[in-house]
Amino acid sequence: MLELTNLDASYGFLQVLWDVSLHVDDGEFVGLIGPNGAGKSTTLKTIAGLLTPKGGKVLFKGKSMNAVPAHRTTQMGISYISEDLNLFVDMSVRENLLMGAYTVKDPERQLETLDFVFELFPRLEERKGQRAGTMSGGERKMLAIARGMMSNPELLLVDEPSLGLAPHLVTDVFNSLKRLQEAGVTLMLVEQRVNATLEITDRAYVLEQGKIVMEGPSSELIENKHIKDAYLGI
Ligand SMILES: Nc1ncnc2c1ncn2[C@@H]1O[C@H](COP(=O)(O)OP(=O)(O)OP(=O)(O)O)[C@@H](O)[C@H]1O
Ligand SMILES: [Mg+2]
Repeated sequence: MLELTNLDASYGFLQVLWDVSLHVDDGEFVGLIGPNGAGKSTTLKTIAGLLTPKGGKVLFKGKSMNAVPAHRTTQMGISYISEDLNLFVDMSVRENLLMGAYTVKDPERQLETLDFVFELFPRLEERKGQRAGTMSGGERKMLAIARGMMSNPELLLVDEPSLGLAPHLVTDVFNSLKRLQEAGVTLMLVEQRVNATLEITDRAYVLEQGKIVMEGPSSELIENKHIKDAYLGI
C-alpha cells in the first residue's frame, strides 16, 4: 500500500531523513520507533504531503505522492493524526467528527461513517454533544483518531497517541488502534512507548538520527538486544 524508497527530507538546509526505505502492506499495522528528534514525525509529515521530499520516492497504491499536497493525500485515502491533535475546542464532539469528513461529499455516507465511528468509540457517542475542549486527555486522543477515520482512510498515520496519557488510557487508545486494524484499516504508528508498540504492531522500523537502523517482525524486535538496551531499559 505504501512504499518509501531512499527518502531524504530536510527543513531548509537541515537534512533530517537520510535514505529512508520502508513499506506498509495492505491491512498491516507497522510501528516506527526511535528517540526524540530521530525524524519520526518528519517521516509521517512527508507521507501526508505536509513536507515535500528532497530525494527518493513516496508511493501510495502505486502512485507517486512526491508532489501531492496534504489536502489531496487525504482525498486519496491517507489520514494523518498529528501529535497536536488540532481539535476545534469550541465545537462539539459530533461537529469535530463531521469536520473530519470534509472529503466525503455525500451527507448520507458521512452519517454512515459517523455511526461506524460511534460503534468503535462508544464513549464518543455518549459525549457527542460535549465541547471538545472539555473532554479529558484520553478522550481527546480518541476523538482525534475517530476524526481521522471520518474521511474513510485506507491508511491511518498516528503520531504519538500516548503522549501525556496515564497508562490505563494508553491501553484504551492502543486497543482502539487494534480495533481499527481489525476493521480493515492499514496503520502506521509512531511511538516512544516501545514495548507497547511492539506488542500491538505486526512489524516495526527503528529510526535513529534520520536513518533506519533496524526492522523486522515486532515479536522479534522485542527480543533484540539493541532494542532492549536502548529502549526497553532491561
Ligand atoms: N519545522 C521544522 N523546522 C526545522 N527543523 C525541524 C522542524 N521540525 C522538526 N525539525 C527538526 O527535525 C529533526 C527531526 O524532528 P522530528 O519531529 O521528525 O523528530 P521525532 O522523531 O518525531 O521526535 P519526537 O520523538 O521528539 O517527536 C529534529 O532535529 C527537529 O528539531
Ligand atoms: Mg515527533
